[in-house]
This record gives sequence, structure tokens and C-alpha cells, in this order.
Amino acid sequence: MYKIGIIDTMNLKGMNLLKNYKNFECELITNLSHENLLEEIPKFDGIAIRRGRIDKDILSRCDKLKVIARHGVGYDSIDTKMLKEKNITLLVTHNTTSTSPAEHIMFTILNIYKGIGMFDEIVRSGNFHKAIHLDIKENFELFAKKILIVGFGRIGKKLIKKCLGFDMEVLVYDPYVESSLIEQMNGKKVSSLVDGLKEADILSLSTPLTDETRNLITLKEMKMMKKNSIIINSARGGIVNEVDLNYALDNNIIAFAGIDVFEKEPPGINNPLLKNKKVLLSPHAATFTKECLEDMSLETGQNLIDFFENKIDKNKIISL
Ligand SMILES: NC(=O)c1ccc[n+]([C@@H]2O[C@H](COP(=O)([O-])OP(=O)(O)OC[C@H]3O[C@@H](n4cnc5c(N)ncnc54)[C@H](O)[C@@H]3O)[C@@H](O)[C@H]2O)c1
Repeated sequence: MYKIGIIDTMNLKGMNLLKNYKNFECELITNLSHENLLEEIPKFDGIAIRRGRIDKDILSRCDKLKVIARHGVGYDSIDTKMLKEKNITLLVTHNTTSTSPAEHIMFTILNIYKGIGMFDEIVRSGNFHKAIHLDIKENFELFAKKILIVGFGRIGKKLIKKCLGFDMEVLVYDPYVESSLIEQMNGKKVSSLVDGLKEADILSLSTPLTDETRNLITLKEMKMMKKNSIIINSARGGIVNEVDLNYALDNNIIAFAGIDVFEKEPPGINNPLLKNKKVLLSPHAATFTKECLEDMSLETGQNLIDFFENKIDKNKIISL
């Protein structure tokens, strides 16, 4: 029997898969404080983790832990150096975590381009005919607009198809992806981030948060963009500098933003973005669809089972 920790609740389908597997004895941990995780994690052979930070202190106490299965694909909350030292395998939900995030990016772009609920409000308030007299200046077509996708992995590759479906022009910045692959998918690789920023109407980020991508977009980069451009960050907080973003929006350096992820989650009540009307916010919810949450929980559970049965798909293992 392996002792498995389910760190933070996930969809019941995945939890039941784990609980019903013959070789697992599962325990659900919902107190995600550092103090509690320090106490609890070392007793497990494997964990499935949705939220919660697994740092050096915790990992240094883990002598039997063999595997961490992330419910998701980002792993900036886990100390990967220590994982390597301790020979602990890290798995991600490679198959199920890109469709909903790519759709969420489109949802955000469409909301911003089409005036966030403005027409709905007009109809509900009995002002149906008011719309015809509006001087429409803030609703746009996506047709022929240029989107710069930064990070052309699982999400970037799903997003490009949706953008092309709207007849947009797609620029891609990802130094680790060959231009031939991008061209095959009808995108254009830009040779530098700066080149892409200068041309883009829409910037969408889909990179991991790393030392290289932290503060990738600051005021300096925003100043290179068109004044009517918008920035969508549904990758990780910290890739776009929040203070700079707020300043750029307030000073008409860029036009609008869509933010799903924050430097600190949940954001503090004094985070100026919460009061800024030029940003559409969501609570780290790009995967929050019925299908995605069910499928991610099942994939997380199956990854743990496959790991202990020695048949884990290599695509799901993060090379440390
Ligand atoms: N908001 C959400 O709920 C949510 C959901 C899923 C994923 N995410 C985030 O989105 C990120 C991307 O997900 P994915 O599945 O597409 O990951 P992925 O690993 O498949 O792709 C990431 C891409 O980013 C590229 N990249 C790395 N560093 C770069 C840099 N400095 N400049 C440009 N490109 C760079 C990589 O080459 C890779 O192609 C995840 O790491 C995660 O943090 C957020």
C-alpha cells in the first residue's frame, strides 16, 4: 500500500479514482498552511496537489516521497532544485489543461473587444434604442488584428487556431520553438519580443513563470506597444509587472488588460488593479469549466496510478 496525500480538494471524479485504487490509502489535506504541510507531506509516498506551496523546508523532510502529481501544468510553487536532489518525480496534467485556458483567453479578448456587458445593461435597463445613438469607439473587430502569443506550448498552440478562426494575424514569440513549426500552424515567428510588441494589437502570455519570464512585461515594454493595445495575462502573476500595468492603463500607454493571475493570490484589497476599470479580472479561473476540472482531476489521479505501475507517459514528467 502506498500512502497518497490529496493536497486541496479537487473534482470528485479524480478523488474517487485515487480512493478506489487498490494499492492506495488516501488522505485529503485541506489545511494548506506551511506549518501543516511541513507536518503532513513527509508521511506520504506520493501526493496530488492542486494549491499549496511545496518549498525546500518541506521537501528536505521528505524521505519516502517519490512523486508529486500537479493538478495543472504550472509548477512555480514547487522547489524543483530540491526535487532533483531528492530524486522526486514531478508530473503535470499534460493532456487536459490547455483547451479551457485557450478558450478563456478568447473569452477575455472578446469581452474586451466587444464592450464587457455594455449591451446587456442597455437592454435590461430599458434603454434598448440607446445603443443605436452610441458613438461606438471602444468596440472593435478582431478581423485582421495582430495578436502576439508569447509562449507557444500547449496553450499557445490551441490559441492560434482560435485566433485564425477569427481571421486574425498571429505573431509568435518563443525562442524555444522552431519557426517551421509556427509557420506550419500559420503563425509568424518574430525574432525578438520587441519586434512583436511594436506590431501587436493584442499581447497574450502563455509562458511558465521562471527567472527568465518574471517581469518580462514592464512599463518599458508597454511603452513600446501601440496605445490602443491590450494585454492578456492568464499564465502567471509576475510575468506582467502589476504596478507598471496599472500605471500604463491610467496613463493611456496601453488601452486595456485582462488579468486572470496575480503576483499574490488572492490579490490584496489595496491592489490598484481591483479598482481599475480598464482591466477585466478573473480569479485564476482559466481552467474553471466542468469538463476541464473533471478531466484534470482524472488525469492527476491516473498520473499517480501510472507512476506507481511504472507506465507513466514521458510527456507528463517534468525534466528537472
Ligand atoms: N490561469 C490558469 O488557470 C492557467 C492554466 C493553465 C496554465 N497556466 C499557465 O500557463 C503556462 C503555459 O502553459 P502551457 O501548458 O502552454 O505550457 P507549455 O510548457 O506547454 O508551454 C510554455 C511555452 O513557453 C515557452 N517559453 C518559456 N520561456 C519563454 C520565454 N522566456 N519567452 C517566450 N516563451 C517562453 C516554452 O518554450 C513553451 O513553448 C503554464 O506554465 C502555467 O503557469 C495558467
